[in-house]
Amino acid sequence: MKIRIVVLATAALLVAVALSMNVASAGTAASSATASSATSAAKAYPAPKVPRAAALKKQYGGESITFIGDSVGGSHARDVALAKQFTKDTGIKVKVVPHPAASDASYSQLARVFSSKSSSFDVAMIDVVWPGAFAPYLVDLKPKLGKEAKQHAQGIIRNDTIDGKLVAMPWFGDFGILYYRTDLLRKYGYTAPPKTWNQLFAMAKKIQDGEQASNDKFYGFVFQGNSYEGLTCDALEWYQSAGAGGFIDNGKVTINNPKGARILTQFANQIGKVTPRDVTTYQEGEAHTAFVEGNAAFMRNWPYAYSIGQDPKSSKIVGKFSVTVLPHAGGKSVGTVGGWQLAVNKYSKHVDASIEFVRYMTSAPVQKFNAITNTNVPTIPAVARDKAVVKANPYLKPEIASVLRVTRPARDLKTHYNEGSKAIYQGINQILNGRSANSVLPGIQSKLNRILR
Ligand code: GLC
Repeated sequence: MKIRIVVLATAALLVAVALSMNVASAGTAASSATASSATSAAKAYPAPKVPRAAALKKQYGGESITFIGDSVGGSHARDVALAKQFTKDTGIKVKVVPHPAASDASYSQLARVFSSKSSSFDVAMIDVVWPGAFAPYLVDLKPKLGKEAKQHAQGIIRNDTIDGKLVAMPWFGDFGILYYRTDLLRKYGYTAPPKTWNQLFAMAKKIQDGEQASNDKFYGFVFQGNSYEGLTCDALEWYQSAGAGGFIDNGKVTINNPKGARILTQFANQIGKVTPRDVTTYQEGEAHTAFVEGNAAFMRNWPYAYSIGQDPKSSKIVGKFSVTVLPHAGGKSVGTVGGWQLAVNKYSKHVDASIEFVRYMTSAPVQKFNAITNTNVPTIPAVARDKAVVKANPYLKPEIASVLRVTRPARDLKTHYNEGSKAIYQGINQILNGRSANSVLPGIQSKLNRILR
């Protein structure tokens, strides 16, 4: 089965990676020097000023826009800091409203607003899997931001271009990575993180058995097991890393296959053993909370969680963890492509002021700010090469950043992506909760077939 790859997103990072080799190879990510410098950099880093602010003030000063922004980890505080700077410089007021934490819930919220042709928001965060579904409701940004778009990884720009219209600008990227406790690996005699899922389960069990003696909240491994979009992302990594395909391959539904059933069963067998029993209700936030509070040896999450783990205000494990590629099951390590774009509602009454906000938010200086304070993946290759960015974001190291990126089947499911993904995550959540893979997979397979028909 052919693995889909976001070629250019990867290429962009590889460029970044090649140029950052000598910087990145100087020491391990978890060294306390790196940790404390990343944290102090975040504190010292002010929101960038808005270019051409006087002209914007003259044209749009006094207008008010609403931005549906982020909610996970430190991202709402970041959005507020940037919006405040934008308002200070341009006089355009920005109301920041955090979206629901689950991507699919956020999708439903926006879908409701669009279907009622409402102008209740002006700018929104759009998940990497939605441009196809929402294109009819979004402003074409090409006439005003086409030049800026050239700076970004062109694979993402292509993803955000529907029928020739640039319906969103890249805000930040994402890919799944493994977080692990360097101190605990050492304590239990391990010299390296696990290469395979079975090694991870065995290491997680040994560390958990030891640590639970003094901490009954401690578990070996946490991930996103809730019945929501995040589980589609995690399960895609299990599948692709086990050679079980990408749920839909070359236009054909493939989710019901023996290798897929096997890897799902392996994961289901670990629930309540090396994971908390209720990991089947965990989203990103529950996972990172368990990890930064020192209650997990391993975590699957996105890069943003690195900044939370290195912040002494939120974390008990500053300097005691590192990141690497996810394990595999005889296949190859992979990371699911995630990420967010900024788009303008075509029913907005302030389209031009909104576009100026998007121009600022997706600019190189703001991407640098976002990468350093919030460890979000830059979509501008030049920012990903920046020394200070590389230092604060160890997942940009060549051996991690070059991991095979796999994409969810959004191109196949098109406007029905959310419905298809729901069939996938609901079914897989049932398997994690004890139903056999062989009894659930045929149902997902036929739901997806019905959607594709
Ligand atoms: C992250 C990813 C996004 C994905 C979501 C799932 O926010 O960037 O693409 O859909 O996680 O929980």
